[in-house]
Amino acid sequence: MQIDEDKLNALLGRMVEEFGALASAPLTILGDRLGLYKAMAGAGPMTAERFGEKTHLRLRYAIEWLNAEAASGFVEYDPGAETYTLSPEAALVLADDASPAFMGGGFEVLMSLFLDLDKVQKAFRDGTGLAWHEHHSTLFSGTERFFRASYNANLEPSWIPALDGMRERLHDGARVADVGCGFGASTIVLAQAYPESTFVGYDYHEPSIVAARERAKAAGVDDRVSFEVAGAKTYPGREFDLVAFFDCLHDMGDPVGAARHVRETLSPDGLWMIVEPFANDRLEDNLNPVGRIYYSASTMVCTPCSLSQEIGLGLGAQAGEQRLRAVAREGGFSRFRRAAQTPFNLVFEARP
Ligand SMILES: C[S@@+](CC[C@H](N)C(=O)[O-])C[C@H]1O[C@@H](n2cnc3c(N)ncnc32)[C@H](O)[C@@H]1O
Repeated sequence: MQIDEDKLNALLGRMVEEFGALASAPLTILGDRLGLYKAMAGAGPMTAERFGEKTHLRLRYAIEWLNAEAASGFVEYDPGAETYTLSPEAALVLADDASPAFMGGGFEVLMSLFLDLDKVQKAFRDGTGLAWHEHHSTLFSGTERFFRASYNANLEPSWIPALDGMRERLHDGARVADVGCGFGASTIVLAQAYPESTFVGYDYHEPSIVAARERAKAAGVDDRVSFEVAGAKTYPGREFDLVAFFDCLHDMGDPVGAARHVRETLSPDGLWMIVEPFANDRLEDNLNPVGRIYYSASTMVCTPCSLSQEIGLGLGAQAGEQRLRAVAREGGFSRFRRAAQTPFNLVFEARP
């Protein structure tokens, strides 16, 4: 077999990047957990000694972490002054949980992929599923923190206004169900934006519901927001003005069954909002950096989750508009349109 040396060298060069990203990821998690980025945010250039004092780190660890971060390009190093700086941009991405650009939660999610490798390997061998609740808890907290940034950035400013008449209804006071709500990040962001409306979040995963209740209380919205353990095909309540599914329809074993239940629980002029990972309809159009992240997460989390449930349709996180439209149609929705999109998400509106 003929080996193309240029192709081989290009791939090996690429692997250096891959190894670097993976090897430095635990350091990013350390920086997040130990407040190392926060200690640098807005503090300007710092010597390693100053950084060590501020973070209560032994100097040798402080130097090594800072040097690794400088090699990653997350921290800027000034060789003349021997100082390290976290730029305002890097602070938004790594130090500020409330920023729309915050990525720290994503690293927690990545950690869970490694921690759950043996379980996914077993599922691959057996052809069985792996339910959401069987994952390491960093998946749950990481998902909340990662997605919250996007909900802060997009929900109130652009996604809700893109839905036909929904902004006005929410302003006036609407009844909203957030299904597959996880820790309730989307529910709480919506409740803060629309004080006249009432919200109920449903998820089959009890620890998530417990966490969501705590978050609602801490945010001071628990008088209008409740959370209940319930599946997407069986949740109680009727006559909702809005039923929202944030990044969870494709995780379900029976999305068509869920769609049917949504239709039954909506008011006649109600609206189903479906937020899904960004994807094109054809595989070849998803072979890009965003598609790479989603296909990987889908292989490790979303597809096994769907296969663990009744029907086990296994839509995957890169289902694309055509397949999602078919799910809504089979579930009894006659109108379906793409209302908004970002590089990471598609937002659909379905009506009976
Ligand atoms: C990727 S997480 C998204 C969580 C949340 N919507 C968010 O945006 O942060 C998927 C969620 O769907 C929930 N889920 C999966 N299958 C479900 C089902 N059949 N019924 C209700 N919830 C389900 C999981 O427990 C998990 O919380």
